[in-house]
Amino acid sequence: MKTDKSRRKFLRVLPLGIFAGMAGVLAAAAFRFLRPVAAAQREAVWLDVAPVSELKGEKPLLRTVLAERSAGWSVTLEEQQVFILPAQKHQALSSMCPHEGCNVVWRDETNNFFCPCHDSAFAPDGERVSGPARRGLDPLPSREKDGILQVQYQTFVNNIKERIPRA
Ligand code: FES
Repeated sequence: MKTDKSRRKFLRVLPLGIFAGMAGVLAAAAFRFLRPVAAAQREAVWLDVAPVSELKGEKPLLRTVLAERSAGWSVTLEEQQVFILPAQKHQALSSMCPHEGCNVVWRDETNNFFCPCHDSAFAPDGERVSGPARRGLDPLPSREKDGILQVQYQTFVNNIKERIPRA
């Protein structure tokens, strides 16, 4: 009789336990999803670009890095383009135009960066020269480690003057 009573009690409590567990999991997921700032505060990752010995010359060099991209629940790896400026202590610049995000190109003829989407132009150091872009190309942190140039890839909010990192 006593076993019957405790079994009934257990069966009454069981759905509550399951419900509490599911609610906890959903709350944790919602917190992560609805707090993009928390994702932005994750520790920045250093990505290998190339051996420093290969990054020479006066002109910007276009390279790709494999960077994580978060979209909602999923995290994918995507190739992203960066420009390295060997003549400026290997400063790294995002190739993403700060107007609407097209990739800029380097033009030897005019000695500047150019965005083919809406004709923004940028100086060799990335400063804005003309066009609808409201700021210069976005600089990315770079460092040399064991002879390899590394960058921290980051995207920024487009079409504003301020440089605000995206989550
Ligand atoms: S996206 Fe580059 S000028 Fe518009």
